[in-house]
Amino acid sequence: MNDLKINTSEAKQFVGNATETILNSALKSGLVFEYSCKTGQCGVCKTKVISGTVVELQTQLALTEHDRAENKILTCCCAPSSDLLIDAEDLASLHGIYIKTLPCRIKHITRFSDELIGLALRLPQTAHFKFLEGQYIDIIGPNSIRRSYSVASTAEQNEIVLFIKCFENGQMSNYWFNQAKENDLLRMEGPKGTFFLRDSTQDLVFLATGTGIAPIISILSGLDNDPDFVQSGAISLYWGNRFPEEFFWTHSFKKLQVNVNYVLSRKADNWPHHTGYVQDVALASDHNMAKSAVYACGSNIMIQSAKERFLASGLAENKFYSDAFVQSY
Ligand code: FES
Repeated sequence: MNDLKINTSEAKQFVGNATETILNSALKSGLVFEYSCKTGQCGVCKTKVISGTVVELQTQLALTEHDRAENKILTCCCAPSSDLLIDAEDLASLHGIYIKTLPCRIKHITRFSDELIGLALRLPQTAHFKFLEGQYIDIIGPNSIRRSYSVASTAEQNEIVLFIKCFENGQMSNYWFNQAKENDLLRMEGPKGTFFLRDSTQDLVFLATGTGIAPIISILSGLDNDPDFVQSGAISLYWGNRFPEEFFWTHSFKKLQVNVNYVLSRKADNWPHHTGYVQDVALASDHNMAKSAVYACGSNIMIQSAKERFLASGLAENKFYSDAFVQSY
């Protein structure tokens, strides 16, 4: 397969070919571009092609007609079919953080409800697993089923904590909720994704639905435990669920001042907090968009709606970061 040169607007260069996605070729060469789902659904990897042509290896579901007219592509879906120049940023914060495949054992299972568990995983002492708070890992379970989960623990902890929701008829859910037991041996691959805190001096607005709270707990706990971190901006968290019993976490930060908002999407008797959608509640709170960055994790519908509405309210496009939980195929 012929090698093709891919250049970025930052004058970085790597080699690709017509059978490998631009994103994978970049990752193999040590460059890290924005990505999350790697399946064409979330749109996080959207990039403009300045010159050259591409071939679509998987359907670019998150690309609109407007995006296509502007020569935008999803780097997780496209391979080069000529030399290319693309407008992609290399995320230096992720340099030196390598994706590894490692064995791991279930250390502990916490059953929050019939539909939600917390999992602590133990890695080999020699694993030297490094990640940035906010990233996710893939767990490779029985029959090589693979699913992605955001890490809720911090990089300093000697265990990996995940929150897992039960999906009806889900193959992996059947394992987690009916078979999994302490000391089970699994494999994990990671860390992955580019959802991590970029600038902690800004006002920070976090939006989460369901177990999308996991990477946000990781990010906030990392700040709370960082002896060098001095909070200079406001931090707000809006966490949405459908039922009151789904709020399985309450914060207990030592020094971090966080305005935590629990948001129920359905009306419930005697619910003392917000009702509605997290993005609506957050937008009603009058954040200063010029000073803020928004980090959203959870359902793709929430994220797309939040992005559209925050940008329409004056947030800069490069200040909206997201990690969408999308369907596995
Ligand atoms: S669409 Fe490419 S990473 Fe989600």
